[in-house]
Amino acid sequence: MKIEILLLSLFWLLVGISVSRPLIINFGDSNSDTGGALAGAGLPIGLPHGITFFHRGTGRFGDGRLVIDFFCEHLNLSYLSPYLESLAPNFTSGVNFAIAGAMTQPQFVPFQLDVQVRQFVHFKNRSLELLSLGFTGDIINENGFRNALYMIDIGQNDLLVALYASNLTYAPVAAKIPSFIAEIELAIQNLYQYGGRKFWIHSTGPLGCAPKELALHAHNKTDLDKIGCYRVHNDLAKLFNKGLRRMCKELKVVLKDAVIAYVDVYGIKYNLFAKPSKYGFVEPFKACCGYGGPPNNYNVKATCGQPGYSICNNVTSAIVWDGVHYTEAANKVVAATILSTPSLKLERFWSR
Ligand SMILES: *[C@@H]1O[C@H](CO)[C@@H](O)[C@H](O)[C@H]1NC(C)=O
Ligand SMILES: *[C@@H]1O[C@H](CO)[C@@H](O)[C@H](O)[C@H]1NC(C)=O
Ligand SMILES: *[C@@H]1O[C@H](CO)[C@@H](O)[C@H](O)[C@H]1NC(C)=O
Ligand SMILES: *[C@@H]1O[C@H](CO)[C@@H](O)[C@H](O)[C@H]1NC(C)=O
Ligand SMILES: *[C@@H]1O[C@H](CO)[C@@H](O)[C@H](O)[C@H]1NC(C)=O
Ligand SMILES: *[C@@H]1O[C@H](CO)[C@@H](O)[C@H](O)[C@H]1NC(C)=O
Repeated sequence: MKIEILLLSLFWLLVGISVSRPLIINFGDSNSDTGGALAGAGLPIGLPHGITFFHRGTGRFGDGRLVIDFFCEHLNLSYLSPYLESLAPNFTSGVNFAIAGAMTQPQFVPFQLDVQVRQFVHFKNRSLELLSLGFTGDIINENGFRNALYMIDIGQNDLLVALYASNLTYAPVAAKIPSFIAEIELAIQNLYQYGGRKFWIHSTGPLGCAPKELALHAHNKTDLDKIGCYRVHNDLAKLFNKGLRRMCKELKVVLKDAVIAYVDVYGIKYNLFAKPSKYGFVEPFKACCGYGGPPNNYNVKATCGQPGYSICNNVTSAIVWDGVHYTEAANKVVAATILSTPSLKLERFWSR
């Protein structure tokens, strides 16, 4: 009898240990794409992208690691394999559905958020089917899916496309924002329906601080805020984030047994541009990799990787890599700041 109880508690102990293993299932755009667009669309994202850390093109936009890579390191996980990676993927740390360029809408268009969620539904179904047939490989089991943290970082491309379509006017873009938020809400609800219980939602960044935006659109002082970022971009990003935050709060009431963490990426990134020297950065509005020199070193005819581009002397002192995407140095600060926020202790999602 006693041995049985002992065995039973040992069983629960073992289950408990396997239950608490961290695992990340991610959805989004280039902010968190670890090779999906390269694998899925053949987009040749090679060197100089990756030059600082991977020393080869991995399909990541940037000189090195992304925020999600630093999350994986923090959790002692290997970097996430893209879902679409056909050659030796390893899903023991989780899986990444994010694809550069992805938006929340229109639906049914690769690789928008709803498509990524449908890919997930297939991925989960097929994984469990394979396991039931005795397959042993680096895939995710029932426990893994149940206890995974489901991350979403999307929306910036919706805002930019709408901004360009409206010649950078506020009202038409603002009118579309609720439909972007509704898509993200639908994604969370669908993931919940398929067993997800832990969610981690990134706000969108200060799009108006990007060297590309400043270089592409003629402006005067009144178009910029006090630190020199495009006002209309950032006002819309803030409006989007306000709606996103409210949606997360409301959904928490409906999905009672779910955890939904809203992560203020905007505030953290804006701080980099507002107080660059505090973080060891210089010339915040100048792309490191590009063409044209000050103030933005961005030229649409010679972007990073295209003939004519050059790379700044010290990548670790630049915030923005190619005019749009952040440097590894900036991503490191963003990740560290998130992880040092008491309410966002990532490892806590797997402790009980
Ligand atoms: C990761 O590994 C380090 C070193 O082994 C350890 O100190 C740390 O607690 C681990 N972190 C997590 C989240 O497991
Ligand atoms: C997959 O990744 C895990 C964790 O990093 C590792 O233990 C395992 O050996 C990897 N599998 C293969 C086939 O490399
Ligand atoms: C997977 O999908 C098939 C058909 O699409 C369905 O019959 C089956 O029940 C699904 N399995 C799981 C585990 O959801
Ligand atoms: C945007 O500006 C261009 C050129 O100035 C003009 O041709 C176009 O009609 C404008 N579009 C809108 C939606 O205002
Ligand atoms: C600044 O540019 C905007 C259009 O981008 C224009 O409406 C406004 O009149 C300009 N202001 C000044 C002071 O030139
Ligand atoms: C590069 O920039 C970083 C961060 O500002 C600084 O710590 C480092 O000393 C710089 N390296 C060189 C070679 O200038």
